[in-house]
Amino acid sequence: MFLNTKRKVNLNGVILMFSTFFCAVFATIQLNPITTREKNNQVPCNTHGSRAAVINGGDTKLSVEQRFMRPRPPNAYCVRIEACSELLTTSPSVEKYETRPFSVGGFNWTFFLQPSGNKTNLGTWISAYVTIDPSGLVGENREVYADLKFLVYSKAYDQYLTSIDTEMRRFHQFRTTWGTPNFIRHFDFNAKDKEYIFDNDQCVFGVDISVYPYFNKWEVLSIDKTVYGPKSWKLKKFSTLIKDFYMSDEFSIGGKKWALKVYPNGNGTGEGNSLSLYVILSGSQTLKPYEKVYVRAKLRVLDQKQSKHLEKPILTWFNTTGESAGFDQFVSFTDLQNPAKGFIVNDTLSLQVEFEATSSTNYYSISPAQFLSTF
Ligand SMILES: *[C@@H]1O[C@H](CO)[C@@H](O)[C@H](O)[C@H]1NC(C)=O
Ligand SMILES: *[C@@H]1O[C@H](CO)[C@@H](O)[C@H](O)[C@H]1NC(C)=O
Ligand SMILES: *[C@@H]1O[C@H](CO)[C@@H](O)[C@H](O)[C@H]1NC(C)=O
Ligand SMILES: *[C@@H]1O[C@H](CO)[C@@H](O)[C@H](O)[C@H]1NC(C)=O
Ligand SMILES: *[C@@H]1O[C@H](CO)[C@@H](O)[C@H](O)[C@H]1NC(C)=O
Repeated sequence: MFLNTKRKVNLNGVILMFSTFFCAVFATIQLNPITTREKNNQVPCNTHGSRAAVINGGDTKLSVEQRFMRPRPPNAYCVRIEACSELLTTSPSVEKYETRPFSVGGFNWTFFLQPSGNKTNLGTWISAYVTIDPSGLVGENREVYADLKFLVYSKAYDQYLTSIDTEMRRFHQFRTTWGTPNFIRHFDFNAKDKEYIFDNDQCVFGVDISVYPYFNKWEVLSIDKTVYGPKSWKLKKFSTLIKDFYMSDEFSIGGKKWALKVYPNGNGTGEGNSLSLYVILSGSQTLKPYEKVYVRAKLRVLDQKQSKHLEKPILTWFNTTGESAGFDQFVSFTDLQNPAKGFIVNDTLSLQVEFEATSSTNYYSISPAQFLSTF
């Protein structure tokens, strides 16, 4: 089915570009095989894209193919053929040679060559493809993304001519084969100087398959913007407070417990000059491992006379319980004691925190497929 649909592709105008491309590539290889890798010659034409268009109707996205020499052997499968002219270049040739199955990325694949897989006015091409075993394409694995490279060994260079398919390919029940109809021309394959055919008619082909697995761990970060209203805390008999710090009762916001913490005589840089005020992510709870809690809030010391409250914003991430966010120098003693400011009235200090946004994180244990279906 696949091979039949391939034949319907029209040739557009790519042949001219192809011939320019190959002249460029092979001229470079002849002069200096080492530097061809950097050249990354690109074909600005649409070989794979046009086949995709036949399959899913209307996808005209261009794909770019690259060829270079590399020393590294294939990562997925290698096949040595010991009668290359007999099997590959003699006409008429076999329609295809398919390898036994091999396993990559948890799937079974076969690699196949078509000795005369494509005939263009540039000559006859050896085509190279891989097919995934569809019985593995079920459930969460019903589609697989993979990068493909096809290789043929050059004995003269002791390197592999490597054809990269720069588009990642999606394999699924209705598309189990991908590859390149124009892997190498017979004319080039037979060229004596590269020795693709060497030592009594041998040749070596291979394929790289790099499967891109789905993520299998994930999390959801949500922001709670519920209006909770300010939480207030009155400290009576303020002038008689003798401890270093005082903590408010705990309160719950956004699924977490919080408290206010005040140092009447100052803390850190505020010591001896300012009142220090913080909001604390209560130490009486535990966070999920690696959970961080985002907080946008306002801390206030209330003006109990004219409501000209002193307000300072917090924007922070808490990453451990017991952690604080606030100000060593929230309000100077001078302002605090100034009766006109209204911060202390009847020896009472009134503090407030108002949460505007807070986050929660969930680490899911459902399957990736279920997870993806939630959005
Ligand atoms: C044969 O090669 C031409 C030129 O590159 C290409 O456009 C065409 O799609 C190929 N044919 C097949 C059957 O893949
Ligand atoms: C791969 O092939 C083996 C042997 O035939 C088979 O047992 C296994 O289920 C196959 N795996 C997949 C994912 O197709
Ligand atoms: C008090 O100040 C010290 C020193 O700067 C600091 O480490 C500590 O976190 C402060 N206390 C609070 C509750 O932020
Ligand atoms: C927790 O937050 C502090 C201050 O934002 C940061 O320095 C520290 O690296 C964080 N720790 C972790 C485990 O993320
Ligand atoms: C302070 O005390 C006086 C007298 O008891 C009372 O009238 C006034 O309302 C109090 N002010 C505040 C802000 O509590």
